[in-house]
Amino acid sequence: MTRKILVLPGDGIGPEITAQASRVLAACQARGLDVEVEEAPVGGTAYDLHGTPLPDSTLDRARAADAVLLGAVGGPQWDAIEDISKRPEKGLLGLRKELGLFGNLRPALLYPQLAEASSLKPELVAGLDIMIVRELTGGIYFGQPRGIEERDGQRVGFNTYIYSEAEIERIGRVAFEMAQKRGKKLCSVDKANVLEVTMLWREVMERLAPEYPDVELTHMYVDNAAMQLVREPKQFDVVVTGNMFGDILSDAAAMLTGSIGMLPSASLNESGQGMYEPCHGSAPDIAGQGLANPLATILSVAMMLRYSLGENALAERIEAAVGKVLDDGLRTADIAPQGGPYVSTVEMGDAVLAALEAS
Ligand code: NAI
Ligand code: MG
Repeated sequence: MTRKILVLPGDGIGPEITAQASRVLAACQARGLDVEVEEAPVGGTAYDLHGTPLPDSTLDRARAADAVLLGAVGGPQWDAIEDISKRPEKGLLGLRKELGLFGNLRPALLYPQLAEASSLKPELVAGLDIMIVRELTGGIYFGQPRGIEERDGQRVGFNTYIYSEAEIERIGRVAFEMAQKRGKKLCSVDKANVLEVTMLWREVMERLAPEYPDVELTHMYVDNAAMQLVREPKQFDVVVTGNMFGDILSDAAAMLTGSIGMLPSASLNESGQGMYEPCHGSAPDIAGQGLANPLATILSVAMMLRYSLGENALAERIEAAVGKVLDDGLRTADIAPQGGPYVSTVEMGDAVLAALEAS
């Protein structure tokens, strides 16, 4: 059965990096991967064309796709849009919500070839390979009631941190299954000493644990987790946490690798449909100059093949091709040593394709 992939290039460097990822997809097609690839506008680009960051035609095609590959959205030219619901980021949030993408997978993997890029000492991060599983559609970012209002003569701001047992259970299962496929260690991060919602979180994780006897479950308070992440990051294998803690911890973990241009991500829904995108944004400062590193987006294609299309062998081939070009010393500007030589976005794409062909 032919599966459908929707590519959403978006804004800034988005079109440059998704172009290279699409070449990799085409190379997979040439090797027998049975997929149909389409493109559609999203973000500021869609706003300029259709007056909305998420046109119905884009959303309908995303719903019909088995997987979506997104570049990035946003840029200064759209920051002045007064109607917040029309800002580029709303395109991304709308997709997450409409597709029910509750399970966000954010690997923090340090390529040994890039160990000097980390902000930590090489021996602390050499071989670093963490998977952060973040709940993406609930928690304090979405809880009701919320707002800013006048109470007793002064303004107060408030949000609601809420998770149902069912929401905790479904993200918990994603994380336990991930741990089973990896190093069999799962650390659940909460603030159960202070927040009732995370007491329930901890209770649900404990209840699930006997169903995954091969996985060792531990718990950590979020403040300690932040500390441990920079003190001894290699103690972690899979980390599971809620939306806000996951937002913060995954950005911190990303920085341990020192190269935001290298990090892919996946967001999955209950039927295994997923949206795949680099962790970085639209990098308007370097857009259109051929400076963008396309590897995070190419590695997002590998995650797509693994998690939505069940093509593990192809995913591994792509990851190996990326490893090969790094071994060969190819670097885009963001990962090149200070003042060292670097290649363009397209040249990096060329090199990955050549490595794929040779594999
Ligand atoms: P950013 O991730 O776009 O850029 C941060 C820094 O990293 C910049 O110096 C940029 O040049 C560099 N960088 C990012 N990706 C790179 C790549 N592939 N290769 C080489 N260098 C790279 O974050 P920033 O500057 O905070 O946001 C810029 C715009 O992107 C904003 O409009 C923001 O709203 C949007 N954004 C979009 C996201 C998304 O679509 N998922 C996520 C984060 C930000
Ligand atoms: Mg963030």
